[in-house]
Amino acid sequence: MIRRRRILVIAGAAVVVIALVAGLIAALAPKGDDTASGTPSASSSLSAKPSRSASPSATPSPSESLTPPGFDKTQFSIDDPASIWVVSDKLRPLNPVDYAPADLKAMPIPTTWGAVPYLRQPAADALTAMTQQYTAETGLSIQIQSDYRSYASQVKVYNGWVASKGQAAADLTSARPGFSEHQTGLAVDLVGVPAKCGLNACFADTPQGLWLASNAYKWGFILRYPQGLTPVTGFEFEPWHYRYVGVELATEMHDTGVQTLEQFFGLPAAPDYA
Ligand code: DAL
Ligand code: ZN
Repeated sequence: MIRRRRILVIAGAAVVVIALVAGLIAALAPKGDDTASGTPSASSSLSAKPSRSASPSATPSPSESLTPPGFDKTQFSIDDPASIWVVSDKLRPLNPVDYAPADLKAMPIPTTWGAVPYLRQPAADALTAMTQQYTAETGLSIQIQSDYRSYASQVKVYNGWVASKGQAAADLTSARPGFSEHQTGLAVDLVGVPAKCGLNACFADTPQGLWLASNAYKWGFILRYPQGLTPVTGFEFEPWHYRYVGVELATEMHDTGVQTLEQFFGLPAAPDYA
């Protein structure tokens, strides 16, 4: 009786050992191509094996294939005033300071003062398409409060702010001549129709302000002076001021959550003029 029980115990232990060894062998065995079964798994998409869509001529090393292609931050100049990536802030005057764009284009968008507005051609086309899409989607409209401004008109605008608020307050809301994005023909101040909260922080909470904050990047525009980043940009929150940088850069900044051009390009913060 005791002998029979001992045999049963030994047999049971043997079964457990065999099962464990079989499991170990299965775990260590090379896997089949799991892309063949349909949707690639997370492990297959991280595999060092080049996919069919990768360049057939070059087999990437494992480190190359695991590294997504990086965003090329040097594709366009940030210094040339005619570049769609030009960075203009209190430490980076336009060069030359009286730069004027060569491709200004009229836009079929209403303005608060009744005149025809202008931006550089790529920005004008993008803004026209964006405002038309906004109206198609919502039945509401966007109009322009300020468009391209020459060096001479920035002199008048800035001096007007200094006269009404004093220089310190003016410097938080209006760029000095030669330092304004409006002079590049790539920046625009937007407001709703009817105009509500024009050049006021409450524009952020209007239907137009909310829609632009979420969607403008799809047409290549960024909100250039975001809330809480005055120590970086040098200017107060301007929910109405949109800057055209092209869809690629605007989307990259949106997707990576980097809010200012200074931070994106690793430039010094520009709270004050030099
Ligand atoms: N309001 C912006 C900073 C400008 O004057 O260009
Ligand atoms: Zn502006």
